[in-house]
Amino acid sequence: MKNPNYDIIVFGATSFVGKIICQYLCEHAKNESFTWALAGRSKEKLTTLQAELGEAGAHLPLLVVDANDSAGLIAMCNQTKVILTTVGPYDLYGEPVVKACVETGTDYCDLTGEAHWIKKMLDKYESQAQTSGSRIVHCTGFDSIPSDLGVFHLQQAAKAAFGEHCPNVKLRIKNMRGSASGGTIATALNIAKLVRTDPAVKKVLVNPYALCPENHGFKTRQQKDGIYYDDTFNAWYGPFFMAGINTRIVHRSNALSQHAYGTDFKYNEGVLTGRGWKAKAKARSIHWGLMSFYLGASLGPIRALMQKFFLPKPGEGPSPKAQLKGFYDFRFVGTTDTQQQIITKVYGDRDPGYGSTAQIIGQAALCMAQDVKPTVKGGFWTPATLMGKALIERLNQHTGVSFEVLSTETQKEEKS
Ligand SMILES: NC(=O)c1ccc[n+]([C@@H]2O[C@H](COP(=O)([O-])OP(=O)(O)OC[C@H]3O[C@@H](n4cnc5c(N)ncnc54)[C@H](OP(=O)(O)O)[C@@H]3O)[C@@H](O)[C@H]2O)c1
Repeated sequence: MKNPNYDIIVFGATSFVGKIICQYLCEHAKNESFTWALAGRSKEKLTTLQAELGEAGAHLPLLVVDANDSAGLIAMCNQTKVILTTVGPYDLYGEPVVKACVETGTDYCDLTGEAHWIKKMLDKYESQAQTSGSRIVHCTGFDSIPSDLGVFHLQQAAKAAFGEHCPNVKLRIKNMRGSASGGTIATALNIAKLVRTDPAVKKVLVNPYALCPENHGFKTRQQKDGIYYDDTFNAWYGPFFMAGINTRIVHRSNALSQHAYGTDFKYNEGVLTGRGWKAKAKARSIHWGLMSFYLGASLGPIRALMQKFFLPKPGEGPSPKAQLKGFYDFRFVGTTDTQQQIITKVYGDRDPGYGSTAQIIGQAALCMAQDVKPTVKGGFWTPATLMGKALIERLNQHTGVSFEVLSTETQKEEKS
């Protein structure tokens, strides 16, 4: 019988994002009592991080564990309720951690945005997690919590206001400032390479329902990436670079919640660029920019040049000043079968992928350790289906991420 010493172990504590998560948990420890430890493969890096964390980190236990050491991973999992891992790209280093959690019945959350890897983990470990009681939740950072909880929040508000759910929901990014770290870039480059070399990966990435259980029964065609005009905001929009993973997590949430958003649920995400021909050109440049990045990154020599000269390396990322200046402002628009419309807002302070992600995954791990009842069954959940309201409350109360209803009337213009 497991008798964990800790609520959370942060594995990959010394990664670029791991350090920011540890800083956030040190800050948050003033508001909530929990036990936690830092883990990583390098004793030296862990000791340096502990010193950087100052007094708040001085008494935190340090665990030296390598992701290739299965016995070490099992020993680590046996000491904690939840493993929060940043050891990525997950497709390269993540599987042994999932395996150890599933074998030991340990809860797990991560920052992957790699749909093909999640599919692989589902196929290999889902039934074992259901048996061992391990609750596995992928995508508990900027991808895909604002989208997944944003849709969940909108659907709850629609049911309260209109007595019905919204079979049509769209997310429009009104404004956002942020940049990528070396780890995120390494992940994107690995995906681009695999799309060219592995047809099975491509098959997963083009299927909007790839992460839904086999018997999901969804047949509705989803909107393809491109440039479109949005008649709620009277503005052009282009593709959002995280939509590929976010939309798949949202559809999985719908499937796992007995189609709470409807069997013909439609969902898409886009970045608003404004009105007029300049805005249309900007939307087009977002689309072409993304296509060029993935095309270039899929070609070995170009990928090597991009890595060498243009892109951040593993361990590098936006400066603390840039992280503080970052933010995102999301608008969700839902329409019911009776044409009632609801508009909601999800706002996050700080850089989306780092400052905001640290707050989000920190609170998700705490929610799993403190709020999710031990009787909730094991398996591969989504943030919305496992934590829903409890995590929204935590984020509203303890972080710069907020969820708000802007309007619940049948109206087209934007409220704020
Ligand atoms: N979802 C989101 O919103 C979001 C946001 C940010 C990042 N991410 C993802 O999070 C991951 C980390 O990003 P990052 O920029 O922080 O990356 P990073 O700085 O390159 O860190 C990678 C981490 O993996 C560790 N690692 C590699 N191999 C290991 C092994 N064999 N055993 C133990 N640890 C090992 C590294 O250890 P050392 O410290 O010892 O080198 C490092 O801590 C990436 O997959 C990225 O895509 C997602």
